[in-house]
Parts: sequence; structure tokens; C-alpha cells
Amino acid sequence: MKYRFPEEFVNRVREANDLAEIASEYMTLKKSGDRYLGLCPFHREDTPSFNISADKQLYHCFGCGAGGNVITFIMNIENLSFVDAVKMLADRCRMPIPEQGLQKGVSERYKTMGEVLKANVAAARYYAAALKTNKKAMQYLTGRGISEKIIRQFGLGYAPADGNSLTRHLAGSGFGLKILEKAGLVSPGKSGGTYERFRDRVMFPIIDVRGRVIGFGGRMLGDGKGAKYLNSPETPLFHKGSTLYGLNWAKKHIVNGELIVVEGYMDVISLHQHGIKNAVASLGTAFTQRQGETLKRYCTNVIVAYDSDAAGRAAALRGMDILQGMGCSVRILQLPEGKDPDDYVRHHGKEGFEELVSRAMPLVDYKIALLEKRYDLNERGGRMEYLKEAAGILAKLESELERAEYIKMVAHKAEVYEATLREEVLRLAKKEGRRGRNISGKNRHNNKNREFGYSVKTANVEAEKTLLVLMLKDKKLRRRLAKSLKSEDFTDRLHSELFEILGREGGAGEVKDADLVNAFDGQQDIDRVVTILQQGLPVSEEGIDKVISDCIHTITIYKIRKRSNFLKGEIERLALRGMERTGDEEEQYRGYCEEFMDIQRKLKGR
Ligand code: UTP
Ligand code: MN
Repeated sequence: MKYRFPEEFVNRVREANDLAEIASEYMTLKKSGDRYLGLCPFHREDTPSFNISADKQLYHCFGCGAGGNVITFIMNIENLSFVDAVKMLADRCRMPIPEQGLQKGVSERYKTMGEVLKANVAAARYYAAALKTNKKAMQYLTGRGISEKIIRQFGLGYAPADGNSLTRHLAGSGFGLKILEKAGLVSPGKSGGTYERFRDRVMFPIIDVRGRVIGFGGRMLGDGKGAKYLNSPETPLFHKGSTLYGLNWAKKHIVNGELIVVEGYMDVISLHQHGIKNAVASLGTAFTQRQGETLKRYCTNVIVAYDSDAAGRAAALRGMDILQGMGCSVRILQLPEGKDPDDYVRHHGKEGFEELVSRAMPLVDYKIALLEKRYDLNERGGRMEYLKEAAGILAKLESELERAEYIKMVAHKAEVYEATLREEVLRLAKKEGRRGRNISGKNRHNNKNREFGYSVKTANVEAEKTLLVLMLKDKKLRRRLAKSLKSEDFTDRLHSELFEILGREGGAGEVKDADLVNAFDGQQDIDRVVTILQQGLPVSEEGIDKVISDCIHTITIYKIRKRSNFLKGEIERLALRGMERTGDEEEQYRGYCEEFMDIQRKLKGR
């Protein structure tokens, strides 16, 4: 237990932050009784096996074995150290950090993140106020049909053209240039000074799922030279590749696990104003793996509504493959040439757009439709190319049924025998399959590595665990077992430590689940502790005595066997020395032999 904060402080921080509340900022949770269930944010899965116990304030994933409390949750999901996670949670509930902890513990990185966040919030306020007094910018937005209510909700603003008023204003509130630079609001100029990044632009604050202003996008007014949109650079808070604009709002409006992915800020905002509130923007066309991972936490059905030219681009398609690969069902919405969701919903309204959503094509159909556009099927060469590429797409399908359906369709279109195409698809699938197996084989290997050191489930280790579970479930049993066992009886290090804690004061001490979790440092240990805490009673009340005696028997036998193996080895070693045995060794030899015989008799007697 190496806390840099006083333990009492860490406990208070833990108690002040409700695990389910915190976790729900990162994922969708369904309540059932006093538990919450959701898709595990720490591994890929399709059916929820991540659960939170509200009264114990612990989480556990039956799929990957991840587990812990609110602090380990933040450590893992935000990738923070223990100290930074505690600091973050303390900030959340406005608890002052103890001096001592501040000096030693809080890392530079976390401090900078907090300062950047404060600067961003101040800048967003300033931009919003500036929009109110700038007619031109206001007219630009209203001219695009955006209501005042939406301007307020999305916190839209305006960055003045002069290029120094933000800096001046924020300096008045104590923000130095250094931190504004870290926030990406100003950049060092070539001639030594600094200049503001956003000038004469409509500002879109980018807010993450937890409601923090992590960055900005700025659009020029009208169409002119230069970049139409400018985004914050990478900062300690803003990582474009993992951000989805609008997810903080959209996550509250997910129906049937469905989210719409669009390209731009204006698409999200415009759809929202027209009542379609489950849209997020990937901020450009190349959808990244990390965006996919974020999205997967919230939804299972993705509708991609990119501009018609953009959707077919290789980078965009790769992004969709990523999503599909993660187990999302992906459908592509088709917009008329040259239109984006913003244009479309403004002209056709909510119903019009929903009609497009309902006609969105499954990804495979869409890819095949693209091929049909690319190749001339009336010509032999075109048909061959079409078939080759289509076969490649179909070979990747998981479901045999689906594959058969598509083979029929494609063969018909290219006027070849189904059997011919099927053969080609199967040939490619086999190649694909070998690759696939390699990948999963590697995963299996990794899992083994992850578990290495405690995956060896011998009967005695299982028995140890069962006894600990019993001690956790029932105070009377705890006292009873504390008396009849010793920590040396537990061969597993973690089991032995757990027993020591549970067995304090003859098993009568007050032990909270959280205390047990906090007694361990490494995530692997914590995962295991939580697994044990989550385990139900192995039998009904009546069967408990039998279980206890069986477990103790198993443990005893193991101990005896181990001793017997040791004796056997020693006896052999000493026997080989024969006449060369010293007097002491002679005595030892006799003693070992006697004990060994004794044990053999005992083992047979049982
Ligand atoms: P689009 O060019 O499709 O713009 O870029 P848009 O969303 O239709 O914008 P409006 O309607 O003209 O205002 C889509 C997204 O790509 C990113 C932005 O996130 C934008 O919303 N982008 C685009 C940039 O980052 N920089 C650019 O210069 C252009
Ligand atoms: Mn647009």
C-alpha cells in the first residue's frame, strides 16, 4: 500500500464519487436491481458482461476479468496514474487536495490538463459573448438557419478578427500566454511574438462525453481563401483522432443502439435542430480506430451519413470496416450528389431525413454497389474485375448464410454460374481464414500471458478461493475459518494475503470490500480480488459444512502431498550418498523415512 495521499483522504474521495455515475459518463449502463450492466469499455464485446454493483461500489467484467473501484476505473479509462486519478476525482467533487499529496503526487501532465481546461472554458465564454455583439457573425449563423436556442445549447461563438482581444481578455483573468499556447489558442509567431489561432471565425466548442471543453473548431464566415475550418491542434486535452463531435449530446438520444455519423460540425447541429439528435461528427472523413472504439461504447448500429463523394473514399470505407469489425452493424445512408446532411435536413425536414435513414444500405451492399458503378458489366473485362473484387468482399463475411445470399446476387449481376463464384469466394475465404486464425491464436496467447501466474487452476487453489468466498459471505464462518486455518495454508500469495486481512482479530474485525481492493496495488491483483468479491455462495446453506470440510480436506491433502514429494526427493538424495552420510545426515535420513512412511499410511487410510 504505497499511497502518496493519506489513506483517509483516498477513502473519502472514493466514497464521494459514485461509480455508476462516473462510469455512465463513459458508457451506456442499464440498471437492473442494484446492479448496472453494459458493454465492457476495456475489451471488445457484443453482449454486455461489464457490471457494477451499486452497494459495493465495484465493477467487474465477466468477459475480460477487469475489475476494481471508481479509482481503478478512472485510472484505466483515462490512462492516469493512481495519484492523478485520485486528484481528478477529488476535483470533481470539489475536495481540496492535501498539501503533501500536491507536492509529491500530482504529475505535471494532470496539472496542465486542468489549466488547459480552464483556459478553454474561459475562451468559450469569451467567444460566446463576442458572438452576441458581432452582427456579421450572428447573421452568418442565422442565415444558415440556426436558431438562437441552438446557438446557446452548442455554445457557439465568434473569434474576433483583430487577433489579440482573446489574449488580452484572458490575461485579465490571470491566464498567461504559456497556458494559452498549451491550449492551442495562441501560437508562437515567426518574429518572436504570438498570434491567436482563431481570427474572424465562427467558433464551435468541442465538448467531450464528460462535458469538458477540450478544443475548438472555427469556420470562416462565408467562402473565402484559406482553410474553411480550423481545429485546435493536439493539446493535452484534445486528440482529434479519438474525438467525436456531438457525442455528449447524442449519447442521451440513442434509440435502438443507433448513432448517425456525419462529417461536419454543421451537420450535427442542423440535424439536432431538426429533431434528429443522435448524430456525431468524425470531423473530416477518415474515421479512426480510436473513434470506432469510442463509438462502440455507446451504440451497436451505425448509420454513416457522409457526403456522397466522401463516403466511397478509401479512407472512409476503411473506417467503416473498422466499425463493422468491432461488431457494429454499419449502414450507409445515401445522399443526393453534392448534398450533405445539413443541406438535406433543411430542405426535407426530419421525416425526409428519416426516410433516408430507413433506406440506408448495409455496408456490403454499398461496397458492391460502388463496384457496379466503377466497372462496366456489359464488357467482359469489366465483369471479371467486378467479380474479382466482389469475391474479395464476400470472402470476408462471417455468416455463411449471408455469403450465399450475396453470391447469388453478384453471380446474377455478372452473369456467371453461382458455383464458379462460390468456389472463388471459398478459396479466398480460406486464405482469409488462415489469417483470421493467426490473429485469434495470438489473442489467445496474449490472454494466457495476461493470466500467467494465476491461471493454473489446481484443485487446492480453487479450494482456497472457495474458503475465502465463504469468509466474505458470512461473519460466523469467517470467525470459524479464521480459527481453523493459517495464512500459510494458502499456497496462492494473494489468497494468503486476503486470508490475513479477513482473519484479523480472529475473524471478527470490520472489513469492507473496498478495503480489500485497496490493499492491493497491481491491476492484476485488484481484478482477482474483485472476482472473488463478486462470487456467489458455492452452495445452499445446508451444503456449506460439507463444502468447508471438502475444501479443507483438499488443502490438507495438497499440503501433505507437497511434503511427501519433498521427503521423497530428500530421501533419494541422501540414499545416494550411502556410506558417505555424516552423522547428522544419517539422523535426518531416518527421520525423513519415518515421516514418509507415516504420510503414506495416512494417505492410504483416507
Ligand atoms: P465539409 O467541407 O464537408 O464542410 O467538411 P461542412 O461540414 O459541409 O461545412 P459547411 O456546411 O460548409 O460549414 C466536413 C468537416 O471536415 C472538417 C470539419 O470538421 C468539417 O465540419 N474540415 C473541413 C476541416 O477540419 N477543415 C477544412 O478546411 C474543411
Ligand atoms: Mn455543409
